[in-house]
Amino acid sequence: MTFDTRAFRSALGSFPTGVAVITTQASAERHLGITVNSFASVSLDPPLVLWCMDKKSDRHHVFTNATCYTVSILGTDHQEVSSRLAKQGSHSLEGIALRDTDLGPPALEDALAVFECEAETIHDAGDHTILIGRVIRFARQEHGAPLVFFRGRYGALASNAPD
Ligand SMILES: Cc1cc2nc3c(=O)[nH]c(=O)nc-3n(C[C@H](O)[C@H](O)[C@H](O)COP(=O)(O)O)c2cc1C
Repeated sequence: MTFDTRAFRSALGSFPTGVAVITTQASAERHLGITVNSFASVSLDPPLVLWCMDKKSDRHHVFTNATCYTVSILGTDHQEVSSRLAKQGSHSLEGIALRDTDLGPPALEDALAVFECEAETIHDAGDHTILIGRVIRFARQEHGAPLVFFRGRYGALASNAPD
């Protein structure tokens, strides 16, 4: 039996997700970021989260070798930043509104929530690597609408959804 990978990918896109940007330090002076929708919570105690990284990404080695990274949960105002950091080879955070974190990798300004993570484990998983992070510090905003990804497109929650 042949497995239609393209159709599989489209079917997975029927699961609506939020969007996050993960940032880490690439060199002494340089941070970079990547847009992901594979972010998920794992454990409350200890506090663990995960995300998955495509092995084909040219950022794969940087993130899988990172000792820490910061997860910023995006709001609807972040759509442009999300598109930019999803472009192949477009890693730079230059010109993006950022704020400092204690661990180092910057968070996106006005993120709905921020999770500062130390790398806990990585797991080989087919054409992706699963990265599990231990949350050292976190913050959240009370208000703001989440950026949503569904069927390959950006969207937002319906206007009657709770803020
Ligand atoms: C909404 C959205 C979600 C994405 N989620 C992931 C993800 O979870 N993991 C991943 O490796 N790439 C994900 N990507 C793709 C990356 O952002 C990026 O396009 C890819 O790494 C190619 O660029 P690179 O080779 O320069 O790293 C996503 C892209 C978009 C637009």
